[in-house]
Amino acid sequence: MTTTVATTPIAGQKPGTSGLRKKTAVFMGRHYLENFVQAVFDVVGCAGKTFVLGGDGRYFNDRAAQVILRMAAANGAARVIVGQGALLSTPAASHLIRLNQTDGGIIMSASHNPGGPTEDFGVKFNMPNGGPAPEAVTESIFTRTTEITEYRIVQAQDVDLSRIGRHDLAGMAVDVVDPVADYAALMESLFSFDAIRAMFAGGFRMRMDSMCAVTGPYAVEILENRLGAAKGTVVNAAPLPDFGGMHPDPNPTWAKALMDEMFGADAPDFGAASDGDGDRNMVVGRGIYVSPSDSLAVLAANAHLAPGYARGLAGVARSMPTSAAADRVAAALGIAAYETPTGWKFFGNLLDAAKVTLCGEESFGTGSDHVREKDGLWAVLLWLNILAARKQSVAGILREHWATYGRNYYSRHDFEAIETAKADAMMAALRGRLAGLPGTDVQGLTIEAADDFAYTDPVDGSISRAQGVRVLFSGGSRAVFRLSGTGTEGATLRLYLERYVAGPDGLDHNPQQALAPIIRAAHAIAGIAAHTGRSTPDVVT
Ligand code: G1P
Ligand code: ZN
Repeated sequence: MTTTVATTPIAGQKPGTSGLRKKTAVFMGRHYLENFVQAVFDVVGCAGKTFVLGGDGRYFNDRAAQVILRMAAANGAARVIVGQGALLSTPAASHLIRLNQTDGGIIMSASHNPGGPTEDFGVKFNMPNGGPAPEAVTESIFTRTTEITEYRIVQAQDVDLSRIGRHDLAGMAVDVVDPVADYAALMESLFSFDAIRAMFAGGFRMRMDSMCAVTGPYAVEILENRLGAAKGTVVNAAPLPDFGGMHPDPNPTWAKALMDEMFGADAPDFGAASDGDGDRNMVVGRGIYVSPSDSLAVLAANAHLAPGYARGLAGVARSMPTSAAADRVAAALGIAAYETPTGWKFFGNLLDAAKVTLCGEESFGTGSDHVREKDGLWAVLLWLNILAARKQSVAGILREHWATYGRNYYSRHDFEAIETAKADAMMAALRGRLAGLPGTDVQGLTIEAADDFAYTDPVDGSISRAQGVRVLFSGGSRAVFRLSGTGTEGATLRLYLERYVAGPDGLDHNPQQALAPIIRAAHAIAGIAAHTGRSTPDVVT
């Protein structure tokens, strides 16, 4: 039986490119989830359609899934494909949307934000191409949430999402599928599992930290069961509603246990971690950290060693704040390099138009045209394939890479929970001074150019302005200033620092040391301490 429930708009249901993210308690509030889901269905249409549904297993994931299923049935959907236990990593959901040629999907996740009753929850709609809804769609969804007067939901018992197979929910088919199987098959089609299996059989050791989040079952099946990595290679492998209290954000700060192991005595050959919903990755070699910018460059230079990319790459894209290391590889390969604003959505058009094959961001996101999301385990497997093919250590591969292309020393400094007004004032003052900066010297460095990054999408011609202030110094060094679009408390200033050193004399410096002159210049140019009262960052990656 379908019930139409009268409701009124709830303020603030404005989805960003990563969907609508709020405190779990907010999502669990009266009509909150229901209003938003109805707004999604009203905008994208629901009658007769097929959707994918799954999430990262965080607190409320299971109950939200039942609500969304009942609402899909009430709104006339023909079929929903759900991961068993309502689990799907974000890249696996993207794959299922594409594989089954569905009308899109709903992903329940707040990515790398902690989970639990007092932490975060999120809902995101992905399009039939498997990628996040573009701004025009999220804006329409937001507008709809401001007008909503009713939602539809069927009265029914919970669907047993633990049982694989077809279920009926008020006339709608609910297909509960193994969340891992199709994704694992896709990975097997891209990479030489034989070569990786032989490497593990030869004694190669790895540590994968799934941080009690969604990649655990994927990593155990693929790395341990199919590739023969030692049992126990994957740690924190069971997805937990509160991620075991971990902050499932794979960076040196939050994945500290992994870092300690990789830099300790008897470190394994290779280490990796992924985030709450499995789209981010961090990779580490024995005694050597791989910055995401370098990782993208190394993957681009070596992707042809994996069967899925043996024909070479169409092009490479990176977000503007990501280091230019990948551009140097693209230039050497004679392929196009694109510089996009921050956020995965800008890659979607380039991937759909087959202008690029690989893309990545400094924020631990790497991916390819196999899905329309970044993909943590995919990056790990591409690294493994390259290691198996080159038969070298991570350190050896990085050193050779830097010797060939030069090294883009790179770091991001985050200043969190700044008073919004102060952060805005700092950025406004900086933008106001841009025109006067070129040609001036700061802390011994000469500024060559300064601008506020704007991007014209080469596929649809749309223009995105004010995407971050770039200050370029002579010699290929730069500082980039932008405010986070995903922070939940006050403003987060992200300061991105890069210094290019050509040739072998760039080797073996500590990045913070190598970047010290750029850091000093950046602080002087923006007056960070004067505006915000902060002189040291909260998080350094
Ligand atoms: C952050 C990252 C960005 C990433 C986004 C979603 O956004 O910096 O690269 O695409 O999360 O994962 P920001 O908070 O900087 O706006
Ligand atoms: Zn994520």
